[in-house]
This record gives sequence, C-alpha cells and structure tokens, in this order.
Amino acid sequence: MGLRLGDTAPDFTAMTTDGELSFHDWKKDSWAVFFSHPADFTPVCTTELGRTAALGSEFAKRNTKAMAISIDPVEDHHAWAPDIGEVTGTPLNFPIVADPDHKVAELYDMIHPGEGDTSTVRSVFIVDPENKLRLILTYPKSVGRNFDEIVRVIDALQATDANPIATPADWKPGDRVIVSPGMSTEDAKAKFENVEEFKPYLRYADAPK
Ligand code: BEZ
Repeated sequence: MGLRLGDTAPDFTAMTTDGELSFHDWKKDSWAVFFSHPADFTPVCTTELGRTAALGSEFAKRNTKAMAISIDPVEDHHAWAPDIGEVTGTPLNFPIVADPDHKVAELYDMIHPGEGDTSTVRSVFIVDPENKLRLILTYPKSVGRNFDEIVRVIDALQATDANPIATPADWKPGDRVIVSPGMSTEDAKAKFENVEEFKPYLRYADAPK
C-alpha cells in the first residue's frame, strides 16, 4: 500500500550533496519539503531546484527545510549543482539525495513505470515536525511545479494546526478563513473577529492574529 496523509514519513539514510544524512535526524523538529526530480542536467529540474534555492529564506521563516532526490549518483549531483546557481541566480542551498539503487524512491513510490523509464516523477511530500506526511503531490515529468503553491500549503497547514479553522479555495495568508465545521457559530463569535454565517456549515472569519 502506498503512503497516505498522516503516515509517518519513512526514515532513510543516504548519500547526499551534503554528505551522508538520515532523514529524520536531518529534519529534526522542523517541517520538510522532500521532493523528487527526474534527472540531473535536465532543463525543468534545473529551474525547479533553482526556485527552491531562491525560496530558502521563505522556507526558513516557516521552520521548513528542503531536500531533493533523484536516482543519479552523488558525483552527478555535484557536477550539475553549479549549473543551478548559474542558470537561476541562486546557488544550491539544500541537499540532493543520490539514490542510484532506487531504495528511497521505492520507499516513497516515486518511480511510476507508466511514465517512461525508471527515473523518479515529480513527487512532493510536506512533512510536519512530528514526521507525519501532511501533503502528497505528484506531477508528471514534463510539468514543472509551482513552488509558491508549496509555500502556500505550508502556511495553510501551520494556520490550521494553530486554530480550529480551514482555508477556502485559493486562500492566501491574510485572507479570511473558514470556521472549522466542528465549532458552533456562537463559539466561533467568541473566538474570532467578524464571523459571518453564509450557511450554517459555511462561516467565514478574519484570520486569527
Ligand atoms: C526536465 O527536467 O526538463 C525533464 C526531465 C524528464 C522529462 C522531461 C523533462
């Protein structure tokens, strides 16, 4: 059975561009974005890893670490890494796992045989401080991911962990939120500002400060 939301993110020890790392030890009690790319020296992957590097300070503000993985050997990762900085303007600032024997890719079900070869597809796992999987995304090899969306999901997860709220479609930090269905409107009015009942099941409120 594949990985599901709420499962513990499988731990592993592997060679990376920052040396040998064990996933749980490396992330400790931070959030993590663990994502696969199909191959080194490929155009879409170069833009994606550069974009992730550029978001380094945004991830840090959110107590979040990034880690990438492909089935290429660590020598290839080291040879390709300078291209990422050269092409995108931000040098690599997070580890890339080398997974030539596919051990980690298989643990995370990142190889989809229908997608052409044994390279990894574009999987994304957001892992919380307790090592639980909180988001799983899978993109095809031909489509680069939207990393603003990944940051937005981290914001939404952190906001909904902190308060009995959910976030509506296209929510961005600062937008109004939805009161959790389990909370009465009366209790919501005592807890949140500007509670508005559109339907008994759909109550908006200002985002908690
Ligand atoms: C790329 O990163 O450009 C790429 C990799 C595999 C298939 C298609 C595109």
